[in-house]
Amino acid sequence: MKNLTADELREMYLKFFESKGHKIIPGASVIPENDPTVLFTTAGMHPLVPYLMGAMEHPAGTRLTDVQKCVRTGDIDEVGDAAHLTFFEMLGNWSLNDYFKKEAIGWSFEFLTQHLGFDPAKLNVTVFAGEEGIPADEEAVEIWKSVGIPEERIFRLPREDNWWGPAGTTGPCGPDTEMFIDTGKPKCSDQCRPGCHCGKYIEIWNDVFMQYNKNAEGKFEPLGRHNVDTGMGVERTVCMLSGAPTVYDTEIFAPIMAKIDELSGETDVDAETKLRARRIVADHMRTATFILCDPKGGVKPGNVGANYVLRRLIRRAIRYSRMLGIAPGFTVKLAETICEKYQNVYPELGINLAQCKLDLEAEENRFNQTLDKGEAMFNKVAEQLKLHNQTQISGKTAFKLYDTFGFPFEMTLEMAEKAGLSVDKEGFEEANRKHQELSRTTSAGSFKAGLQDNSEVVTRMHTATHLLHAALHKVLGPTANQKGSNITPERLRFDFTWPEKMTDEQLKATEDLVNGWIRDAIPVTKKMTTVEAAKAEGAMALFGAKYGDQVSMYTIGDVSKEICSGPHVANTSELKSFKIQKEQSSSAGVRRIKAVIGNLT
Ligand code: ALA
Repeated sequence: MKNLTADELREMYLKFFESKGHKIIPGASVIPENDPTVLFTTAGMHPLVPYLMGAMEHPAGTRLTDVQKCVRTGDIDEVGDAAHLTFFEMLGNWSLNDYFKKEAIGWSFEFLTQHLGFDPAKLNVTVFAGEEGIPADEEAVEIWKSVGIPEERIFRLPREDNWWGPAGTTGPCGPDTEMFIDTGKPKCSDQCRPGCHCGKYIEIWNDVFMQYNKNAEGKFEPLGRHNVDTGMGVERTVCMLSGAPTVYDTEIFAPIMAKIDELSGETDVDAETKLRARRIVADHMRTATFILCDPKGGVKPGNVGANYVLRRLIRRAIRYSRMLGIAPGFTVKLAETICEKYQNVYPELGINLAQCKLDLEAEENRFNQTLDKGEAMFNKVAEQLKLHNQTQISGKTAFKLYDTFGFPFEMTLEMAEKAGLSVDKEGFEEANRKHQELSRTTSAGSFKAGLQDNSEVVTRMHTATHLLHAALHKVLGPTANQKGSNITPERLRFDFTWPEKMTDEQLKATEDLVNGWIRDAIPVTKKMTTVEAAKAEGAMALFGAKYGDQVSMYTIGDVSKEICSGPHVANTSELKSFKIQKEQSSSAGVRRIKAVIGNLT
């Protein structure tokens, strides 16, 4: 194996695919340009969705390769183990309806074995096992055999292992073939196979064959194109090539870890906690620095959407820095180290460092003040309890510390333990639940205030808007996303991202779809859930919208699922009919539709 640095790996990968006729394109912003359904770019294919769908031609052609900055915070609580990161770089090569499985697999094999020097005997692969309506990928099996992988190292696995995408709720997706390196460790059980998390098999690359589109009804329909989308993680590959035990032990993290150690002081926490804290601080600060320096900009620590994710990363890093005895002011110092490490590849980390430092400093000061105030309050509470010979902090008090003083509940637990006190956790949860119910009512109230008229017709228009949004996704694809909505008793107005005037056929198809759903008399149901759970179910959410901890999710059969505070009708038949009156430009890259619905009489 070649012990490569990240810089060397990126260059080698891009050059290799360039030699196979690919154009090297710049990676996109980590803050999605036009997609309110996700907060951050999560994969290399994400910015390429319109081209994968065939909605437009890519100016660089049909064979592309790049390195994409990705943020995935779904597993934020797992960070600190050996494998999870909230930021990573993904190497990718794409065929936009150009080459297909034979070339993709052949080149993956060639690059892994001849260029990176992995032993072909250690390579294990998985392919899609097939399911009703979608055949098993025997073609991929044959190609793997033709390059020399024997049957016993080819694993046919179901959808949960070997299907990738779409990145948001709808869009291109398909069966994939994943490549794993056998580390030589013993199997953890008879069932151990690639995809098992015991550490025997490490995934190194994923080739997705994007032949399907997941539509707004949640169905997989043939895309009518044969795309290839591949993804190889830079950090993980560098780790495997160097033989380092974890990504944090690679040259990528070396200067960041060294800086953390230099800043660390005396603490009384155990070695294991310190190890985890060190990694969390490194991971979160790297992600926060990339978000704050992103060329698109606009994400700042705050309480909503992407801003909230950023705040959570920074504040978590601060909390864990305290366990390492790191003095305040460290976020700026780590950002400097991170930018120094990356700015040759990502110039924005040089250009935007000064602003990034200002943002970090402000957030660190705010949170430290919060923590100081919270600690002072905690100490008062503890004194009072001792005075009255009590040993438990009530749920109500813990919630007050959290809600009124912004003191993280974990800190209350930690400080209580040190002070020899217990905390009524259930009481805390109960108080939290009550509070959420209250804020739900308030947010529903403020939504109503935002509508010009909460009459019956407005309610119907509102449901019609969800149907229109779903229909546009079906007709134009997943990039036709909501940019704005305005409802009066006379009409609905809907703005969405789309680069050109819609054709008469597209308008008619959209109208027909909505009218079809109205005729189908589909029930509209509402469920209270969390933003995360709603998104996991595939609900659309608006980027930048203000959501409480509990949100309402409206489902219209399998046509539409959106986080929304309502109000909505109970059945689509109540809309009677739907008519588009006008389609016009709203601003650059944004179209506007005005539509009306039928009378109730
Ligand atoms: N889009 C594929 C992935 O993220 C390559 O794994």
